[in-house]
Amino acid sequence: MTNTTTIPTSLNFRDDCLEILNQQKLPHEIEYLKLSSLNEFYDAIVTLKVRGAPAIGITAAYGLAMTMNQHQTVNLSEFILEFRQVKEYLYSSRPTAVNLGWALDSLEKAIEKAKSVNEAKTTLLHTAIQLHTEDEVICRQIGEYGLELLKDKSTIMTICNAGSIATSKYGTALAPFHLGSEKGKNFDVYACETRPVLQGSRLTTWELLQSGVNVTLIADSMAAHTIKEKKVEAVIVGADRIAANGDTANKIGTSMLAILCQFHTIPFYVAAPSSTFDLTLPSGTSIPIEERAPEELTEINGVRIAPQGTQVYNPAFDVTANELISGIITEKGVIYPSYEENIGRMISGG
Ligand code: MRU
Repeated sequence: MTNTTTIPTSLNFRDDCLEILNQQKLPHEIEYLKLSSLNEFYDAIVTLKVRGAPAIGITAAYGLAMTMNQHQTVNLSEFILEFRQVKEYLYSSRPTAVNLGWALDSLEKAIEKAKSVNEAKTTLLHTAIQLHTEDEVICRQIGEYGLELLKDKSTIMTICNAGSIATSKYGTALAPFHLGSEKGKNFDVYACETRPVLQGSRLTTWELLQSGVNVTLIADSMAAHTIKEKKVEAVIVGADRIAANGDTANKIGTSMLAILCQFHTIPFYVAAPSSTFDLTLPSGTSIPIEERAPEELTEINGVRIAPQGTQVYNPAFDVTANELISGIITEKGVIYPSYEENIGRMISGG
């Protein structure tokens, strides 16, 4: 029997704006925001109103396309000059997720051959819409491949929110659970709360509850105990950037789960679209790691929880070494070690 499911989504294109589900407010409030100006798009990405690598890329693409559609010039060279400045500005919003640069570059490539400002404007919007709609198909395919790896009724752990609201629909790491729910397959999912911004407790639990997936929240520090006591059979996570050798940047706390998986001899899977691979980087050591404001650690909802003057180190991502990764689930199939060779073949066709 299949379950009744509602898979939440966070991005809706309207003719004059991009409507986003404000992820800062979840789960207390379901608030939709209309983004139409460049500053609104930039702010939404920086302040995590929209977050998750694919969703950041799609939002930035709409931001660039809509900003340029408001531009008044009819001179193509002037338009392109302005396009590059807006692109650079949006590019600077968050450094780790390579999907951001990938989406903005896709728009630049699309207008290379435009012969007029009007043609460029139309192409930009069409390309942004295309990236948005293709992402849903890609995530669904990741879910199908993920379902082939994860046994029905198994117990799986995840961290952060690599879910439907972090993408166009379905998500990456959470896609097998949503699809499983549609197909009558059940999983017991343990969601790490994901300090400091709590994407696990605020977003993953909310999202999975809506699609009828059995989800249990734990604090990040409970992962080792939970894997042992609850007989977790695999860990699946998303990714923000995967280097050519398979080293993977994802939400802070991911690499400690991978180390735990090795100790407990259970598989550790990364789920990500091809747009998350950065083949210009030979290894994870050169992936830029975003450091965020100290208040994410020293305060909870504006209430101070650490003494004034406390020094803070707040990296938002970590890099999991390729040797800890059992497989990378992409829309093109599952990539297994040896990664240098197999990523080249599967992602760039090289
Ligand atoms: O800081 P965030 O919330 O944008 O971090 C998100 C993650 O780390 C996700 O796991 C990743 O972007 C994949 S989303 C499908």
